[in-house]
Amino acid sequence: MSTIFVTRAIPGDALERLRERGHEVDVWPGVLPPDPGSLGTALAGADAALTMVVDRVSREMLEAAPKLRIVANMAVGYDNVDPAVAASLGVWVTNTPGVLAETTADFAFALLMAAARNVVASDRDTRSGGWKTWSPTGFLGTDVHGATLGIVGLGEIGLAMARRAGGFGMRVIYTSRTRKPEQEAALGIEYVALERLLAEADFVSLHTPLTTVTRGLMGAPQFELMKQSAILINTSRGQVVDQDALAAAIESGEIGGAGLDVTDPEPLPLSHPLYTFPNVIITPHIASASLATRSKMALMAATNILEVLEGREPVNPVNRPERVRGPGSLDT
Ligand code: DGY
Repeated sequence: MSTIFVTRAIPGDALERLRERGHEVDVWPGVLPPDPGSLGTALAGADAALTMVVDRVSREMLEAAPKLRIVANMAVGYDNVDPAVAASLGVWVTNTPGVLAETTADFAFALLMAAARNVVASDRDTRSGGWKTWSPTGFLGTDVHGATLGIVGLGEIGLAMARRAGGFGMRVIYTSRTRKPEQEAALGIEYVALERLLAEADFVSLHTPLTTVTRGLMGAPQFELMKQSAILINTSRGQVVDQDALAAAIESGEIGGAGLDVTDPEPLPLSHPLYTFPNVIITPHIASASLATRSKMALMAATNILEVLEGREPVNPVNRPERVRGPGSLDT
């Protein structure tokens, strides 16, 4: 029997799957994540951990967890743990690719629509008694159909976004680490350099992982290149955007608005100026939050754990330990 630490209550039947194999499953009872001390203590006694993007797993924690064989992130992103460090210590890191792409793109598109058409601002206005009559000039937004969407990062989520944009008759341009000629032909999308994308797009949607290259990718010089009417959508990671520069660009009217599902830090402190703009929408990192998708993500993470505890390779590794820890390991 192994001990599995799960850092939050999770949807679906993932916990049951783990328990029915006879493992002891400790679920952190809080609504808030375990603090670093509690996380370290829990990992120190665990054989496996099922973690969320907000659980920072440090080198020190991994070093102090001699039995730990896998950190299974319930997310496609894994910037909360260094896979190379984990590999050097014999710990697998896994993620949940693919399963959340469509759901996340649904939400990115919802943010785009909401920001373009003042959905949130007008709802707030009606609730506070602002709806006096039909107004020929009230809440004039930006058309989505026929507009140009600029996708930054054409991975699975970026591609799903491009497919949605096609249904709205949008022109789609993209920039990405690698050019994807097959997708260009299939979806009628065009590869351009970031600078041109920023200059031509009516909507700029970010779909990059957080890396040393993408950290701070969108800053003052980039906002300067954007159209004054353009709207920024971010469902990737808050750190990809320089938020102070974004607030300045919104305040000065350099860009038209933003829809942010991710911020830095999370939650964004209520004192942050971004909350003061009616043309900025801020949601609490929920792009993958449909019941079906979050349940599938939990199950994928649990499956990765079971594979490793049963001596096999995980299905979705993002690293490859040279020496794997524990009984039944590949190198025993
Ligand atoms: C991810 O999967 O990386 C998201 O940010 C959380 O769903």
